[in-house]
Amino acid sequence: MVEMIDGRKVAKEVNAATKAKVEELAKKGVTPGLAVILVGDNQASQRYVHMKEKKAVELGINSIMKTFPADVSEATLIDTIKSLNNDSAVNGILVQAPLPAHIDEQKVIETIKPEKDVDGFHPINVGNLFLNLDKKYPVACTPKGIMTLLEKYNVNLDGAKVVIVGRSSIVGKPMLALMLNANATVTDVHSHTKNLKDYTRDADVVVSAVGKSNMLTDGDFKPGAYVIDVGQNLDENGKLVGDVNYNPETSKIGYITPVPGGVGPMTIATLMQQTVEMCEWSL
Ligand code: GUN
Repeated sequence: MVEMIDGRKVAKEVNAATKAKVEELAKKGVTPGLAVILVGDNQASQRYVHMKEKKAVELGINSIMKTFPADVSEATLIDTIKSLNNDSAVNGILVQAPLPAHIDEQKVIETIKPEKDVDGFHPINVGNLFLNLDKKYPVACTPKGIMTLLEKYNVNLDGAKVVIVGRSSIVGKPMLALMLNANATVTDVHSHTKNLKDYTRDADVVVSAVGKSNMLTDGDFKPGAYVIDVGQNLDENGKLVGDVNYNPETSKIGYITPVPGGVGPMTIATLMQQTVEMCEWSL
């Protein structure tokens, strides 16, 4: 029977450690601050941002929300970011993706000071990660949270065959760098890959970040494999499901992250953890 990788449990541990750090900082009169910029009325984005705000408040992090209508100008967003860059009470700035089509998302990201880029999306931070530099810099929260999860479950990545499905800037590419930095043998497969499942079937660890339900099923994995399901999809009944469709009773998958309750809580816990780390680095 397939075993569950409990993201909620590990996220609770990470959040407890973050809260303890916030309490230490409070003794020095310091409160970490996280600014979140939300544009438009995308329901999934609103839901994520609400969860982030709630968790920040719960952990004692100062949450600064900036919401804008979908027709906000790029100049207004850029001015907002510039003023947050100069606000010493703000340690992390996050612009919830996706942005409306009239806004150049890359230009917006590049306006964030690299030291405040809590998502790790700025080219300077992406470069730091790919070069595996030994210094303090933020890393994309979903892949970083996945690494924490694998570490807590004592998964040995050194020399492991890791297959990443998807090559987005938010998950696939930073995941690839983190796995390479952990000495895994990494393959990234995507929409142009021929015979994609030949790769997943040969992997010790599969990370699926496609955003398509039924993308992978039981027969697409090696028996005993670790499967990290990053998918957050709504099925035909409006139920949240991942990319992987499997039978928990009969599956030969070794370990899998459930959806919900796997990667999702880890992303938020990592965002809070990183906000507090960035506050510490700034002192
Ligand atoms: N949209 C989906 N995932 C993310 C994320 O991790 N960060 C931001 N800023 N937007 C997202």
